Amino acid sequence: MSDDNQDLMALCKRRGYIWPSFEIYGGVAGMYDYGPLGFSLRNNIVEVWRSIYKGREGFVEIDSDTVNPREVFKASGHVDEFADTITYCTKCNAPFRADHLVKEFYDNPDVLSPKQLEEAFVKHGVKCPECGGDLGPVDEFNLMFRTNIGPGSARIGYLRPETAQGIFVNFPNLYRYNREKLPLGVIQTGRSYRNEIAPRQGMIRLREFNQMEVELFVDPEDKDWERFPDIENETITLVPNTTCEPVEMTIKEAVDKGIIANRVLAYFVNTTKQFLLSLGIKKEKLRFRQHLQDEMAHYAADCWDAEVLLSYGWTEITGIADRGSWDLTRHAQFSGTELKHFKKFDEPREADVTKVRAKHKTLGPRFKGQARAVAEAIEAKSPEDVKDGKLTVTVDGQDIELDGEAFEVVTVREKVTGERVVPHVIEPSHGLDRIFYSVLEHAYERDAEKDYTVMHLAPIVAPIKVGVFPLMEKDGLDDMAKALYEKVHTHRVEAYYDGSGTIGKRYARMDEVGTPWCITVDYDSLKDGTVTIRDRDSTEQKRIRADDAPRIVDELLAGKPFADL
Ligand code: GLY
Repeated sequence: MSDDNQDLMALCKRRGYIWPSFEIYGGVAGMYDYGPLGFSLRNNIVEVWRSIYKGREGFVEIDSDTVNPREVFKASGHVDEFADTITYCTKCNAPFRADHLVKEFYDNPDVLSPKQLEEAFVKHGVKCPECGGDLGPVDEFNLMFRTNIGPGSARIGYLRPETAQGIFVNFPNLYRYNREKLPLGVIQTGRSYRNEIAPRQGMIRLREFNQMEVELFVDPEDKDWERFPDIENETITLVPNTTCEPVEMTIKEAVDKGIIANRVLAYFVNTTKQFLLSLGIKKEKLRFRQHLQDEMAHYAADCWDAEVLLSYGWTEITGIADRGSWDLTRHAQFSGTELKHFKKFDEPREADVTKVRAKHKTLGPRFKGQARAVAEAIEAKSPEDVKDGKLTVTVDGQDIELDGEAFEVVTVREKVTGERVVPHVIEPSHGLDRIFYSVLEHAYERDAEKDYTVMHLAPIVAPIKVGVFPLMEKDGLDDMAKALYEKVHTHRVEAYYDGSGTIGKRYARMDEVGTPWCITVDYDSLKDGTVTIRDRDSTEQKRIRADDAPRIVDELLAGKPFADL
């Protein structure tokens, strides 16, 4: 950890940005609580993200459960695939992520199998970093927190490792809500949980963390985005998996050269870039790295990580994946519910259609008055529902198992108006805590000689937008400052009243937490109704009318330069 990083973490703790959780009990690695300023900053980041998707791209937002039954994660692949490699020191028993121990010898150690990792320990003489002891065997360790739903252990549940699945399992509801149209965009923010083996990187690797996930369901044959032309000439730094070298190019070039697979994925890579820059992430410290083929998550067809340069090195803070049809196909398979979109053709087409047809002649004698209902239930089924020559239909609440006497699978030439397709999913998945920390690290400026810290937070995310001070807390200056505070402190603008200490100290307190502007009431204010407003980054001061302060703060927040006041 660098000195700056340590100073920043100390500041975060001291000023109420973040606190190690359960500190009075000794703390738990990989767990942090948000203090008052941190909570506001985090919420402000969420609001910026929400306003991009809900406001401009037509997405809807949901909130799904954090505890899910096992079936959900069996289908998603997390029960079988979501594991890291673990090893314990044979001497001090400390657990380690096995791939992290060989990081310096391999570009991509997380693709190594447990056996290969054990061999790597021997080959490179890797020992326990804590005590120098020998490392034990390497195993797979599933990262999900397991629990039981209800008493006993009959129903296994897991805390969700990603918010995404709550969106996929709600596909039928969301599709109906969207009036059965694609594209269908859904966002969700909330807690997710991963039982990390040995988290040692502050807010970068948390066991309980916050995500902001976007799931966009698209027609698999139409991976375009209407607003692509608006952004196609924007430039971006990409690290393609073919060269693994950073290269700057336009979004259009990236798609035309086949570097980013399609226009919709590229559009949302760019949206992510704009989003992160608007939070104050530094352009020169942001790049988009394509996953190597063997690095992709089990569900991803293509994936780009937004990486920022931090004191920890280049760090992933967002992943933008084309998840293909993985999730809906798997949930359809495991739940038995069809999760498809009916794609209407422009003109009806002649096509060979395979369907299940009822054998009406045999149904009459067998089912009598129910025969018609049984026939309708048969013909509502599709050939995939026939298993080992048998078909089960439900009539009047009763399951009836039928064999080839009752139905047949036929191929007929018909005019069809459309086809049923499994939508593909484009997913920008943001690690909110990592973004939060990156925003702080990129905003942080410390002058060690002067012992002075300024947090250059973008005004839009700064928790406190304006400090309001009386020059002295007497002679009516305090009353005027308090009245001004009441006026500028609105639901959009958090203000902070401070009357204690020298003005210099009060500015320093606000600079340190990133407050962009401070307003001071002085003796002239009592005479002429004017106050000074000070800009954090330039330290420039201007005289404005106190009555204009709420409007001026609004204008500054909307982006008006301080110099233009
Ligand atoms: N939904 C992708 C992730 O959580 O990493």
